[in-house]
This record gives sequence, structure tokens and C-alpha cells, in this order.
Amino acid sequence: MLSRPAMLLGGLLLGVATMIAAQRRGPEAAAQHQVHLVQSGPCSYTFVLPDPQPCPPGDPRSPDSLQRDVSPAAPSASLGAWRAQRVQQLEKALENSTLRLQKLERYIQMNLRSKLAWAQQHMVQNQTAAMLELGSNLLNETVARTSNVEAKVLNETSRVEVQMMETSLSTDELQKQLLQQSNELHRLQGRSSALETRLQALETQQQEDLASLREEKEQLRRLLGSHGGALAVLERSLRLASSNSSRLQMQQRQLLELVQRLVHVMAQGPGGSAAGERTAPMRAPEQVFQDCAEIHRSGATADGVYTIRVTNVSEPKKVFCGMESNGGGWTIIQRRVDGSEDFQRSWKEYKEGFGNPAGEYWLGNEAVHQLTSRATYSLRVELQDWEGQEAYAQYERFQLGSEAQLYRISLSGYNGSVGRQTGLFLQSANFSTRDADNDNCVCKCAQLMSGGWWFDACGLSNLNGAYYQNGQHLRRMDGVRWQYFRGPGYSLRATRMMIRPVGG
Ligand SMILES: *[C@@H]1O[C@H](CO)[C@@H](O)[C@H](O)[C@H]1NC(C)=O
Ligand SMILES: *[C@@H]1O[C@H](CO)[C@@H](O)[C@H](O)[C@H]1NC(C)=O
Ligand SMILES: *[C@@H]1O[C@H](CO)[C@@H](O)[C@H](O)[C@H]1NC(C)=O
Ligand SMILES: *[C@@H]1O[C@H](CO)[C@@H](O)[C@H](O)[C@H]1NC(C)=O
Ligand SMILES: *[C@@H]1O[C@H](CO)[C@@H](O)[C@H](O)[C@H]1NC(C)=O
Ligand SMILES: *[C@@H]1O[C@H](CO)[C@@H](O)[C@H](O)[C@H]1NC(C)=O
Ligand SMILES: *[C@@H]1O[C@H](CO)[C@@H](O)[C@H](O)[C@H]1NC(C)=O
Ligand SMILES: *[C@@H]1O[C@H](CO)[C@@H](O)[C@H](O)[C@H]1NC(C)=O
Repeated sequence: MLSRPAMLLGGLLLGVATMIAAQRRGPEAAAQHQVHLVQSGPCSYTFVLPDPQPCPPGDPRSPDSLQRDVSPAAPSASLGAWRAQRVQQLEKALENSTLRLQKLERYIQMNLRSKLAWAQQHMVQNQTAAMLELGSNLLNETVARTSNVEAKVLNETSRVEVQMMETSLSTDELQKQLLQQSNELHRLQGRSSALETRLQALETQQQEDLASLREEKEQLRRLLGSHGGALAVLERSLRLASSNSSRLQMQQRQLLELVQRLVHVMAQGPGGSAAGERTAPMRAPEQVFQDCAEIHRSGATADGVYTIRVTNVSEPKKVFCGMESNGGGWTIIQRRVDGSEDFQRSWKEYKEGFGNPAGEYWLGNEAVHQLTSRATYSLRVELQDWEGQEAYAQYERFQLGSEAQLYRISLSGYNGSVGRQTGLFLQSANFSTRDADNDNCVCKCAQLMSGGWWFDACGLSNLNGAYYQNGQHLRRMDGVRWQYFRGPGYSLRATRMMIRPVGG
């Protein structure tokens, strides 16, 4: 591209040179004009000049005519001189011509140079303009095409961008969901790992427990083995002892009979025992039992009335022993069964006891106080309603204070089939009768509720209340009550209160 204007310039210079040459050369000039060659640097110029016309003698217009006029006197003699003159003139003309030629040359040289420069400039300008135009056209075209392509590309790009945006939006949503799911996964993993650790802990604990259990089992087996041996020994000695004791009993019976016979002989008074009483006549003199648990331990296994001697209680007491249920050895201290006994009694009567041990009775606060002061006793209360339902309430620890303490009741360790709460008082309550008001009420509970009881204000129970027969037992505030069994106004059919030493 760059070489093109240079080539054009070269061509142009060539053209200018030939044009000038053409101007100087004419077709006729070749014949009638003199041709001169001028070498100027790298260029050579050919000039064709007209031949100088020999001026005719006597031509006044010619400057030579003057010289000719000067020497026409001696034509033959002066012919040589004329000729010399003529040569001189020619030489001068030649000189002039040469000068003019030189001038012309100088002029031409100057003119050509300026023209050349001008042409050069114009050529460069024209060429530049043309090139510029070409370039701008090209550019225009390119721009047009480019803009077209650009628009298409832009359109395509925007479309792709729109798609990309949509895609990225959905991708964003997907990513969000992924994140949520991965979070959920993490959470689940954490939870499961926590569960696993807990499981492992449980497993190890179980294994430890199992191991210790196995050890215990082994120890127990060993113990059993040794105990078995000891048991056999004991059994043998027991058998021996029982044979010894039966021999002793025989001796005792013989002695007793002897004594009775003696007494009979001396006083002739009859000796009898109450109906249903199971006190063995041979046992009475020797063995003294504090309670039914001791009688049970001595071998008695049948329910019934037995005699006990409570320390610090002057009279021996007849009492009903529960030997057959709940492990036996229970000393019954209260019994209601048919309303045959009147429970509207005084302080003194409740202190000493009343009623029939084979039927309804109250053993007596003093005896119970003495018993429960010697050892730790538990209390069991058994209840029965008119519909045949039975219930029980048991207290692990039961104690009755002294008379000075108003036979205050102390209970703890409730367990039973009637509700979750005790019907008696877990703290304590003093005993009240119609003639001894020790309750926590401004009223007199014993008079309101009847009987003698550990009234509070006035409490949730009163097993010594008035006895109502079937059909009259409802809505009775003063009846045989145990609120948590059948409610506050229900008078029960049968009740028993019994005590037994703990661990006995
Ligand atoms: C030569 O030229 C000069 C002027 O340039 C002129 O005066 C003179 O007459 C010319 N001589 C001849 C012989 O033509
Ligand atoms: C330059 O261009 C002009 C018109 O644009 C024209 O008249 C002229 O002859 C051109 N010159 C040459 C040297 O081509
Ligand atoms: C280039 O294009 C524009 C419009 O497309 C037009 O106006 C202008 O004259 C063009 N130029 C040339 C040198 O063709
Ligand atoms: C892109 O091209 C489509 C057809 O291919 C046309 O309908 C649409 O209008 C164009 N959009 C732009 C911005 O040029
Ligand atoms: C049984 O009694 C005899 C004497 O009568 C005595 O030697 C023996 O040790 C007694 N046995 C037991 C186990 O008490
Ligand atoms: C029994 O009575 C005696 C004296 O009367 C007395 O010292 C003792 O503390 C009493 N025992 C009980 C358990 O009350
Ligand atoms: C209640 O007593 C029974 C038997 O005596 C026992 O098996 C049970 O565990 C006891 N319940 C409570 C709560 O003490
Ligand atoms: C029982 O009586 C005693 C006085 O002997 C008294 O201090 C105590 O507060 C009474 N207890 C109740 C539960 O009323």
C-alpha cells in the first residue's frame, strides 16, 4: 500500500518529462531546427532550436544589416572582411543563443522544479484523498458490516445473557436447595452421631452392667453352694432340736396335768377358755408373747384369737392374729365387721381397749403405744365396701405416742391400692374422743364424726365412726369413712387395722 503512491509519483515524473519533451519537439522542428541536448544531473533534456536565418544583405530590419551597410564599398576586396564579420556576428549570436539557452535552462530548471514540487504535492494530496476516500469507504463498509455483525452478536449475546441469567437464577435456586439439603444432612448427621454416641454409651454401660451381673450371679452361685451346705447342717440340727422340744413339751404337758390336778384337788375350781381361743394350755405358763409376730414365729399359722402380754401393760390381752395372709404375724388392733360393738367410747376406754377380739374390738391405745415404742412397726389398713370391693393402705412406719403425747400418731412410707395419697396423716395428729378434744378444729370432731380417732380438722378418715347397715351407708359424715376409697360420705362395711414389726 505504501509503495503505491511512490510508484504513482515515479510514473507522474516520467509523464511530466515526456510532456515537456513533446512541447519542445515539433514534427517540423526535426528538419529545420537545431537539436541541443542538455544534461542536468540524472535527467537529460533535448532542446530543438530554429536555425539562424542568413540575413539578406541590405535587410534594414536585421541588426546585421547595419554591419553590412558599413562595408558594402569593396565587395570583392571586402568579401573576406564581410565573411570575417559574418563569423563574428554568428559567434556573438551563438554566444547570445548560448546565453539565452542557459537562461532558458535556468528558467526551465527553476520552473520544472517548482512544478515538480507542486505536482508532487498535488499528487500526494490527490492520492492521499483518494486513499482516504477508499479507506473511508472501506471503513464505512466495514463499519456497516461490523455494526450489522455487532448487532447480531449483541443480540445473540443478550439472548445468551438472558438465558444465562435464567440459568444462573435456576442455578441459584438449586444451590440454595442444595445448601438447605446439605444443612439438613449436617443436622441429621450431627443428631445421628449424638444418638450413636449415646447408643455406644448405653451399650458400654449395658456391657458393664452385664459383666457385674454375671459376677454377682457367680458370687450368688458360690454363696448358694456354701449356704446349701450350711442349710443342710441347720436342717439336721433343727430336726434334732424339734425332737428335743417335742420331748420337752411332753414333759411340760405331764407337769401341767400334774399341776392342774393339784389345783383341782386344792380349790375344786373349774378352768375354761373362751370360745375360739386357740391359746394352747400347755404354752401359757412358760411362753410369753408380746405380739402376733412372736406367736407366728413360734410356729402358729392359723388365724384366730391369741393371748399376748405387752410390757408395762398390767393385764394380758386377747387379740386376733392374722396369720394366714400377707406373710402372717399381724396383730389386729381394730376390727369392724357387723356393727355389733359400740364405738362411742370415752378416752379411758380407747386407752385400755374394748370389744370382743373374735368380733369387733379396739385393742387399746396404751398397748399399741407400748408395742410401737419397743420396735419399729408397720401398719396395714384393710377396707371393704358394701359392693364387695376391697382395698388396703400400708405404712412402712407407724408409731403411737404416749398418753402424755395424746397418743399422737406418726406414719410414713405409704403404699397401697387406694389412690396415691394416704387416708391418714403423714405428719401427725393427736387422738380425740368425745370427752377429749385434741383436734385442730374449733369444732369438736369426735362429737361431729363420732367415735375416737386421730382427727385433724376433721380429716379424711374415721374407721371408728358410727356403723351403718347396708342401704343406710350413703351420705354419712359420721360413718366408717376412708375418703380416698369410696369418698367422704360412704360408710364402709368392714375394716381392719393391723401392725407388725418391720422385718419380723
Ligand atoms: C546579443 O544580445 C544582446 C542582448 O541580449 C544584444 O544587445 C546584442 O545585439 C545581440 N547580439 C547579436 C549579434 O545578436
Ligand atoms: C487532482 O485532482 C483534481 C480534482 O480532484 C484534478 O483536477 C487534478 O487534475 C488532479 N491532479 C493530478 C495531478 O492528478
Ligand atoms: C459513509 O456512510 C454514511 C452513512 O452510512 C454516509 O453518510 C457517508 O457519506 C459515507 N461515506 C462514504 C465516504 O461513503
Ligand atoms: C434479536 O433477533 C431476533 C430474531 O433473531 C429479533 O426478534 C429480536 O428483535 C432481536 N433483538 C434485538 C435486540 O435486536
Ligand atoms: C437334745 O437333747 C439332748 C439331751 O436331751 C442334748 O444332748 C442335745 O444336744 C440336744 N440337741 C439339741 C440340738 O439341742
Ligand atoms: C415400762 O415401765 C417402766 C417402769 O414403770 C419404765 O421405766 C419403762 O420406761 C416403761 N417402758 C416403756 C416402754 O414405756
Ligand atoms: C408396695 O408394696 C409392695 C409389696 O409390699 C411392693 O412390691 C411395692 O414395691 C410397694 N410399692 C411402693 C411404691 O412402695
Ligand atoms: C398434739 O398435742 C401436742 C401437745 O401434747 C401439741 O403440741 C401438738 O401440736 C398436737 N399435734 C397436733 C397435730 O395437733
